[in-house]
Parts: sequence; structure tokens; C-alpha cells
Amino acid sequence: MKIEPFLLERFFARHEFSVRHLLCASDCETISLGELLALEPGAAEAFSALRLGYTETAGDPALRREIAALYKGISADDILVFAGAEEGIFLFMNAVLSSGDHLIVHSPCYQSLAAVAGAAGCHVARWEARVEDDWAPASEQLPQMITKATRALVVNFPHNPSGYLPAAPLLTEIVAVARRNGLLLFSDEVYRFLEYDAADRLPAACELYENAISLGVMSKAFGLAGLRLGWVACRNPEVRRAMVELKDYTTICTAAPSEFLARLALRQRSGILARNLEIIRGNLECLDEFFSRHEDLFSWQRPRAGPVAFPAVRFAVASDDFCAALLRACGVLLAPGGLFGAAAPHFRIGFGRRDFKAGMEKLSRYVEQAPWG
Ligand SMILES: Cc1ncc(COP(=O)(O)O)c(C=O)c1O
Repeated sequence: MKIEPFLLERFFARHEFSVRHLLCASDCETISLGELLALEPGAAEAFSALRLGYTETAGDPALRREIAALYKGISADDILVFAGAEEGIFLFMNAVLSSGDHLIVHSPCYQSLAAVAGAAGCHVARWEARVEDDWAPASEQLPQMITKATRALVVNFPHNPSGYLPAAPLLTEIVAVARRNGLLLFSDEVYRFLEYDAADRLPAACELYENAISLGVMSKAFGLAGLRLGWVACRNPEVRRAMVELKDYTTICTAAPSEFLARLALRQRSGILARNLEIIRGNLECLDEFFSRHEDLFSWQRPRAGPVAFPAVRFAVASDDFCAALLRACGVLLAPGGLFGAAAPHFRIGFGRRDFKAGMEKLSRYVEQAPWG
């Protein structure tokens, strides 16, 4: 398989572990293994007694029950566990789609949502979200994009990189379009549970539509990216069968320690999510203050969910150059919009981490001294 380089991941490979202030991460603050095990009496002893053999290809049944409890009307049999959301994307695109299929992908997007299908020979059409519409994709365009060869529609709410979250009627409309046209709906929901107002949380697509595939992960809202544990929830047995059969050729099964720890974290999710939302809310206040102070330099669309936003520079310098100059001057890393296939002025800022404010102070000082105006 020939596939284009994953721009964002190559960018992180170069900078993530050496930069002083990582201000574009998309995950929430993590915790140590010890802190996680301390959340439940007896967990440390049980973890130490864990046998390290192969696990079930679909995922540990007890973990699948815990994941199913995140959804309405979904059972453990509807869940498949993977090595991160990334493996779920890879397996869906390769196992369920075929060369020549047409795919509509909500964009800008996390690159693999479009690139894996492209490399598998699918024709990818971009359903663009536009900053003028506060990053809403234009619903009236969607039906016109469907061709005879369209097989699937890919959406990502809450959205990376903009933090856009639609109101429920848009999701209902998307499901209706998918159902009317016999499409699979691949719904990347990895930022679910990070709605700033819980009342805004959308139903999962798999709850609304029997041919939807809801993608979830421990990395983002739960802050446990190092577990490399993701899943899909899907009521269509053919889709699940195809994905699990291809998993035999990728990872066979998920790491037993990760399955144990993910189950523990999901049992303790209310505390973990409340902590992460508190960090996000505090950091958002700091962002609101910064962008209102610098309205002349940046445009700011406040997100409604998640730990990322996609502001833009207003001055006549592409965000690549601004981000590169900022990194050189004070070791602050922002992710230029080009990494998401988006227009030059935008950049992604990530605010799910505790050390965010230290990076923001550097950014503020830099912006106040540099000749950007
Ligand atoms: C929208 C989206 N989907 C999937 C992924 C992949 O998640 P993971 O790294 O946990 O596999 C990411 C990671 O940034 C993402 O932003």
C-alpha cells in the first residue's frame, strides 16, 4: 500500500518530545499509572496479577460491556476494540470500502479520515466546513455530492481542528441523508464527552442509525493516549465482521494491560472527565482573554466542545511562517492549518493540558513584541 505521509503526525514526530511548550496537543492532561490504579481499592493488586497472554480479537468482553454502557441501545456484541482510534479508521477504510467507491469526508479533517480511503483506491470528495459559517458544513450541499458510487459518509463531531459541534438537527439530517441513500456513516466521535455544556452532547451516530459506525478512544476526553485503545460501536454485523477479519492482519488483539486499564478508567470516568473539563474551562478563559486583547491580530471562533480550536492570523503572513517564527523565538508549538488541509491563515491551538498557561504567557509576550501588526 502506498500512502501519503501523515503531515500532522510527521510534524509531531519532529517536535512533540523536544519542544518546550506544546500548545497544539489534541488530548487532555494524562495521569500516571499509579494515579489511575489508586482510583479503585484492589486495582493495583488485580493489575499485578493480570495474565499477559493473547486477548480476544474483538476485545475483552468485560471491557466491551463497559464501552457499550457509554451508548443507548448498544450491546457488548456491537463493540470492537482496537489499538487506538487510528486502527479503527484504518480497518474500516480497508476492510469495508472497495477500490472505486466514492466517499464523502467532512473537512478539514484529521488526515487519515480521507487519506486511508484514498490510498485504498476510493474517490474522496470533501464536504467542507467553512469558517464563515462558524465551521458548520453546508447541509444543503450534501445531497448534491452523492453519486451512484457513494458508499460512505465520514463526519467528525466534535470537530478537530475547529471544536465545532452542531445542534442535534444537523446530525438527524445527516443520518436521514445516509439512510435515504443507503450509505454507511462513519462518525468519528473521539472528542465526545468534552462538550462544555453537557446538554449539547449529541446522540452517538450508532444509536440513531443501524449502518453508522461510531468511533471512540481513550486518548482524548480520558487523557489516556498511551493506552493506545480505541473502539467502534456499530450495529451492522457485516461491517464488524469485515473489520475484525482484517484485524487478524494488523494487531490480532489489543494489549491486555491496556484493556484492563481502559476498563478501570471507564468505570471511573465521571471523575476523570470532570477533571479534564475543568482544565479545559480554565484554559478557555485564558484564550478568550488573549483573543479579545488581540482582535486586530487574530480571529477567534470559540469552540463548543473539545480541547482544540482553529483561530486565524489576520496579518499578511501565512500561519506556517507565524508558527515557525514563534517556535524559533520562544519554543511554543502551534500547528499550522496546512497540516489539516486547511487555508493558510488558520492554526490549531490545544488547551487540554495543565501546562497550557505557561505556553500562553510566552505566546502573549511574543505577540506583543513581534512586528505582526
Ligand atoms: C479526529 C481524530 N480521529 C482519530 C484520531 C486518532 O486517535 P488515536 O491517536 O487515539 O488513535 C485523532 C487523533 O488526534 C483525531 O483527532
